[in-house]
Parts: sequence; C-alpha cells; structure tokens
Amino acid sequence: MTQKTNFYIWNDDSVASCAELLKAGEVVAFPTETVYGLGADASNPNAVTKIFTAKGRPADNPLIVHVSSLAQMEEYVTDIPAQARKIINTFMPGPITVILPSNGVIADNVTAGLATVGIRIPDHPVAQALIEATNRPIAAPSANLSGKPSPTSAIHVYQDLHGKISAILDGGSTGIGVESTVVDCTGGVPTILRPGGITREQLEIALGIDIHVAKPDVAELPSAPGMKYKHYEPDVPLVLINGDEHFFQEKINTYRSEGRKVGILISEQLANALAADLVQVCGSRDELATVAAHLYQALRNFKTEDVDIILAEVYPETGVGEAIMNRLRKAASFIEIQ
Ligand code: TXA
Ligand code: MG
Repeated sequence: MTQKTNFYIWNDDSVASCAELLKAGEVVAFPTETVYGLGADASNPNAVTKIFTAKGRPADNPLIVHVSSLAQMEEYVTDIPAQARKIINTFMPGPITVILPSNGVIADNVTAGLATVGIRIPDHPVAQALIEATNRPIAAPSANLSGKPSPTSAIHVYQDLHGKISAILDGGSTGIGVESTVVDCTGGVPTILRPGGITREQLEIALGIDIHVAKPDVAELPSAPGMKYKHYEPDVPLVLINGDEHFFQEKINTYRSEGRKVGILISEQLANALAADLVQVCGSRDELATVAAHLYQALRNFKTEDVDIILAEVYPETGVGEAIMNRLRKAASFIEIQ
C-alpha cells in the first residue's frame, strides 16, 4: 500500500505540522545529530506498529525512545542507577542511549516486550523542537529500510521510505553520521551494546572505570536483540581489506582479473595510491570523525550497475573508529582479508 509522503523543510510551521501528525498516530522522519530517525508516539502502540511495517523491521528488535529532558525520562523508568545518572549528566543531550528498567508506560512493542527501555536525549534543534511540540515520548529507529545503511540526509529517507510514511522533515545532513552509543545500565557495571557517537574512552573517563564492549558474537543474547540482525548492507557485497597499499592494490587487481568491477571505500591517505573502477573517499584516517560522517553516504553511493564488489579499508579502533569498524564489519558480514 502506498501513501502520500509529505516532504517538509524545517521551520517553525513544519515542526508544528509534523508534531500534529505524530500526535495523530502517524510516523514522521526527522533529523538527529547522529542519523535520521523514523518517529512515532511511543505511548501509542498502533503508531509504533507503523514504524515496524514501514521499515520491514523484525518485531523483536526494540526501538529507542527520544525525550527532551531528564525529567521526561524519569516518567518512563523505575530507576536511574548512579552510573546511568553520571552518563546522562555528562553526555546528554548527545549521541548516547541508556538502557534502563521500564515502568511500563512506554508501549510494549517499543521495547519488544523487554522489561527495559532504551532512552536518549538527542542533541539536534529539529529533534528537540519536535519532541517538545509533540509533548510525547518519541520512539525512533534509524529511518532506513531494515538492513540498509542508516540515513544521514533527508534524501536517503526519501529513497528508502517514500510512499510508506506520512512525512519527512528535512533539517539537512546529520553531523555525526553513526548512531548513538547504546549503554546497558541495568547491571552493576555499564556495558556498551553498540559503539557509537560517544566513545568508550569518553565513557571510561567520565565514569572512572573500564567499560566492556559487547562483542557481536554474543549477539544472540536476549539482552541485545538488535545485534543479531544484518545491518548497514550496501547494494553490493563488501569485503574488508586489512593490509598496506600494495596488498590492497593486489586484491583489487585479483578481483579485476576475474572480470569484476571493483569499488573501493578508502580514506584520503590511500586515495592517490590505489586505482579501481569506482573510488569513494570517505574522510581522513587522522580525523576519524570525518570518516564516520560520510560512511553511510559512501556505502549508498555504490550501485549494482557500477560495481560488483566493494573493498573497504580497515580503520584503527580508537575513538569513533570503534563505531566505524563495528558498522563496516557488519556491512562485510565479518569477511576480512589480511
Ligand atoms: O542514533 C541513534 O540511536 C538513532 C537515532 C535515530 O536516534 N537510532 C537508532 O535506532 O539507531 P535503531 O533502532 O536503528 O537502533 C537501536 C538499537 C538496536 O540495536 C536495538 O536492539 C537497541 O538499540 N535497543 C533498543 N532498546 C533496547 C533494549 N531495551 N535493550 C537492548 N537493546 C536495545
Ligand atoms: Mg538502525
């Protein structure tokens, strides 16, 4: 079934219109500082169902709830442990989500029936204005078709979800480019379930303890349902290349000698050293935030009519590099040549 999708440019009137749609139980895509989200009223299960339908998202993968203040967060949880409070005070609003015990106010299909709820306060004027104007908790996964790279511009949302949602609120490109860090705060020591915009190092400094990052191979654990699904898949298969430029060029040449058209996803540092059929430069190794910001756009730029395979550079897993490599490994289905 196709529906009319209104495309709004961000201003006070369009925020008000989109807030009305959300209050009426419709779904609206909007920008956050990480990626675009597909929002619905998290207290309205019928509205939330529309998110799962539009994205083709499995019902057992819970959604993040977006709020505009700590006071609003407290309305949906039974407890905010001391470490979680520190995280909230230090990093919110910002690209981080805390998993807390739910008090049941948030609809069951948002939390996929779990006793916990993931909540964050986005640091983006459009997201904040929309949440405030709606005056409801807003459930919002990334606004892509399930399994595709997350959207970092309104055009990406349009490409994936046009005809399936009520509105897209265009607030320009998102800044950070990878999703929020998801931190489970329900146990004794906070654990990172998904690396993201706030780095492990930042969390360790703020909390004064070592923080563990859950490995994707513990994915089947019910505490981290989102980890077991395929994610961030470009249209073309992707393989990670872990080696120097000579090694990388050799691999390109091997695929080309088999008659395959090769796309490469690399940093500025490799751009002059390598030759391939399509070169996507996504940022600088010396400034990994630039890679994070352009990663999903670069993945979306590889089309089946242009290339048969993507070979991607491996980045250091420090700072936001941890989130970049988490997404690239999933995009590669964990295939790495070294
Ligand atoms: O930056 C972001 O977080 C973006 C923007 C739109 O806010 N949202 C986002 O949502 O990335 P989504 O649905 O694509 O990813 C949410 C992740 C999933 O891996 C999900 O399994 C996990 O958070 N999650 C949500 N609630 C959870 C819970 N109660 N327990 C464990 N994991 C949870
Ligand atoms: Mg997502």
